[in-house]
Amino acid sequence: TAPVRVALLGCGTVGSEVARLLTEQADELAARAGAPVELAGIAVRRPDKHPELPQHLLTPDAAALVESDVDVVVELIGGIEPVRTWLLTALRKGKSVVTANKALLAEYSAELSEAADAAGADLYFEASVAGAIPLLRPLRESLAGDRITKVMGIVNGTTNFILSAMDSTGAGYAETLDEASRLGYAEADPTADVDGYDAASKAAILASLAFHSRVTAADVHREGISRVTASDIAAAKALGRTVKLLAICERVTADDGAESVSARVHPVMIPRSHPLAGVGGAFNAVFVEADAAGELMFYGQGAGGAPTASAVLGDLVAVARNRVLGGRGPRESAHANLPVRPMGQT
Ligand code: HSE
Repeated sequence: TAPVRVALLGCGTVGSEVARLLTEQADELAARAGAPVELAGIAVRRPDKHPELPQHLLTPDAAALVESDVDVVVELIGGIEPVRTWLLTALRKGKSVVTANKALLAEYSAELSEAADAAGADLYFEASVAGAIPLLRPLRESLAGDRITKVMGIVNGTTNFILSAMDSTGAGYAETLDEASRLGYAEADPTADVDGYDAASKAAILASLAFHSRVTAADVHREGISRVTASDIAAAKALGRTVKLLAICERVTADDGAESVSARVHPVMIPRSHPLAGVGGAFNAVFVEADAAGELMFYGQGAGGAPTASAVLGDLVAVARNRVLGGRGPRESAHANLPVRPMGQT
């Protein structure tokens, strides 16, 4: 069988793990995909900074790599442009796309999935929310016959690490953030995490899938953790509670029976006996409530190179298999278009 040729855009923490696993597990991946999954090129800004990678695969020209003879584009660069343009180009040419780009999906998932549908291409993004935890495919596929009413959980590892550390040490926010940065748990620019933008993007993706709606990051009421103080944490403790940054997506029914979707991200004082209270460090955990299934909990590593690469490779095997066997991934077009409640009206 002809190999499935993969373009890797970006080779940072996650991309380098994807490249490593693609090489080390080539035989197993080929067996599962039904054809060899071949790394055809890696786009990085500075090829000279990557002596560890096969030099003949490196290019600074991501646009040309996308246009070249590749079947699948794996995007691990992040941000909106120029990535949006590259991925639309790939999809319109019928190439499969695997991405971990939550900010892009939280704003442009309608445009991207319409391009995918029009060309009969696959768009998979399991790694965009909650790293290694299989969560999006259960929402899209396993629970497609059920009626989800709520998705709630911890979807940002950085803020969970900071809040957990504040809870255990009694230290203040700024001091704990510095420590998290020093240990490599917080990014050099932690704004997207601590101000809740990262969690809001993930909430938009979760709400869109769970409620077959179109929720964008701008629809999500957002409050981060930068104003949580040591005395807030102490007060929570005195009440037998702890503070967690939660993403909460709900199906809301008005008095007249009209349904809508609400999504919000903010710090919440939860009882220490609640299962989410015990989720520490950089871990993520998400509860899903559905009419027939009842309550489900998803838990695991929500960030980091290898865990996130696991989700990327799972998507890669799925899209490769679809290409080999002629199938297609879950489609987004049959949306019920539940209205989204304006921000703040929760
Ligand atoms: N910055 C994110 C986090 C990475 O801390 O959870 C994973 O999306």
